[in-house]
Amino acid sequence: MTHEIAVIPGDGIGQEVTPAAVDVLEAIETVDFDFVEADAGDAVKAETGEALPQETRDIAADADATLFGAAGETAADVILPLREVVGSFANVRPARSYPGLDAVQPDTDIVFIRENTEGVYAGIESEITDGVRTLTRVITEDASEKIAEFGFDYAKQNDYDDVTIAHKANVMRETDGLFLDAASAVGDSRGADYDTALMDALAMHLVMTPEEYDVIICPNLAGDVLSDLAAGLVGGLGLLPSANVGEENALFEPVHGSAPDIAGEGIANPSAMVLSAAMLLDHLGYDEEGDRVRAAVESVLESGPKTPDLGGEAGTEDVTAAIVDEL
Ligand code: NAI
Ligand code: MG
Repeated sequence: MTHEIAVIPGDGIGQEVTPAAVDVLEAIETVDFDFVEADAGDAVKAETGEALPQETRDIAADADATLFGAAGETAADVILPLREVVGSFANVRPARSYPGLDAVQPDTDIVFIRENTEGVYAGIESEITDGVRTLTRVITEDASEKIAEFGFDYAKQNDYDDVTIAHKANVMRETDGLFLDAASAVGDSRGADYDTALMDALAMHLVMTPEEYDVIICPNLAGDVLSDLAAGLVGGLGLLPSANVGEENALFEPVHGSAPDIAGEGIANPSAMVLSAAMLLDHLGYDEEGDRVRAAVESVLESGPKTPDLGGEAGTEDVTAAIVDEL
């Protein structure tokens, strides 16, 4: 069986790290892929006026899964609709520290399960008068339940013991009150052991004692911010993959952006993108192959060439070649 994969490199280092993921997937002999490349981002907008052309939407909608690099200034115009195209409601962001890296917190293994469709990213903002603007935060019981079910399932399937529900229901009483109640009800109905945590205090605990957390279920913005914070604990954005999971379709992308400060230099760390490809393998049912890719990345991080963000001098292509060799 051949799997059709939409490949959308995007802008900046997206153009440099996406080929690394394709190289790695091509090196897996047990799975056949057909890669269909499509444009999105600042460059295609400058050319055509559209950051996410209809053709790209169609390719992503028809594919079995999508690999996305990163977009630049147009990121919101690309990734938010793309997540919609694949029907994704859950953003899965694992943050792990690896042996051999000089991480702030070397004992971190946390998976953020971020609600992906609403909250403050629902896109409802207004200018009331000159100098006054508002934003509407949307929380629904359905979406809160759905993300909690996904999070508790994820913890069980991946052998994580601790589930934490992040919220700020003491202040956002209606919206996060609903999120907390709905997510807690899911945990209760399963007889699951879980904790709840105020997201601001949680940020502090994550910095000081990340080893106490496994799976963290979050509203949209909290998941975005806390997972980037965790990236800082484990060695930077070059290491964090993510999956945007829907009922049937899914999109895989590194957590990082287009990194204009290093774009074009050939020194971007491909690990986040390659680990995103490993999540794509899991999603298609090739868990063993996904594990092989993770092991290869881990081995190269421990003793192979490193890009400058990890203190090395190697380029994207050297690291990618080392990962493929390891496979
Ligand atoms: P960024 O993630 O692009 O970069 C933040 C810092 O991390 C930079 O110093 C960068 O060099 C470093 N970095 C990121 N990925 C790296 C990698 N693979 N290897 C080595 N170093 C890496 O975030 P920033 O600077 O906030 O945004 C830059 C542009 O990216 C903006 O235009 C923003 O809109 C866009 N962006 C796009 C996203 C997406 O497409 N999903 C997500 C986040 C930002
Ligand atoms: Mg972000």
